[in-house]
Amino acid sequence: CVNSCCEVDLLLKVRTQPALCQYEYIIVEKRGENKNVGFIQLNRPKALNALCDGLMKEVGYALDAFEADGEVGAIVITGSDRAFAAGADIKEMQNRTFQECYGGNFLAHWNRVSTVKKPVIAAVNGFALGGGCELAMMCDIIFAGEKAQFGQPEILLGTIPGAGGTQRLTRAVGKSLAMEMVLTGDRINAQDAKQSGLVSKVFPVDQLVSEAVKCGEKIAANSKLVSAMAKEAVNAAFELTLAEGNRLEKRLFHATFATDDRKEGMTAFVEKRKASFQDK
Ligand SMILES: *[C@@H]1O[C@H](CO)[C@@H](O)[C@H](O)[C@H]1NC(C)=O
Repeated sequence: CVNSCCEVDLLLKVRTQPALCQYEYIIVEKRGENKNVGFIQLNRPKALNALCDGLMKEVGYALDAFEADGEVGAIVITGSDRAFAAGADIKEMQNRTFQECYGGNFLAHWNRVSTVKKPVIAAVNGFALGGGCELAMMCDIIFAGEKAQFGQPEILLGTIPGAGGTQRLTRAVGKSLAMEMVLTGDRINAQDAKQSGLVSKVFPVDQLVSEAVKCGEKIAANSKLVSAMAKEAVNAAFELTLAEGNRLEKRLFHATFATDDRKEGMTAFVEKRKASFQDK
């Protein structure tokens, strides 16, 4: 990563405007009418946004900043029209040894994307391959542009997905399609991704990002506190048995009754007005 600036600011917790930080591999902004949607654009065009270590570190810094930013209620991650991300950086991996991978817990820090409490939307145009597909699947919602392509081609390089591809893809699309993609390296297009449940919506290429930001604005208009609970509850469905998951949901549901926002939401409904959430 470029900047010690990011690390220092984070330590001091003074960085409220991530755009002030000099990023090398990503563009970071706040979008939406109320500037309440954190926006991260992967920007390594010569390498089709291959996910080098520096890029993923920067994504981590930007997410930390948005997580700490009281205005931001949702986050959009996107790439370019040609590529969301064409994979991990193969050159970076070419001569790496097992000892280095295991010792350094290679790829472990990518997981930051899946531990953010605020909802994250991936807006995928073009290639989402290998690490790119895995990065999209770490997000909470995936929207695709009509020309998007998803795939896990690691097998063609003599390796297997290492950032959740075999796990998240299988949960998203089921065993047969996941096996086919992971074992052959074949890609699926946006329509197949929609049909299989990997993505929830498909848009024309030039509308994708604005539609993702619109979805982010919709989410950001709700209580951030309660959105985090909703996200936690849905994610628990991938980890727990039905009984345990239902119990967690019930506890979180009950917990919403400890918030001002739940009171405001129901009162506004009864009074036939729009709720104004204070994230309390
Ligand atoms: C990896 O090793 C080979 C042969 O030892 C060398 O030719 C190549 O340049 C190395 N690749 C990188 C990215 O350092």
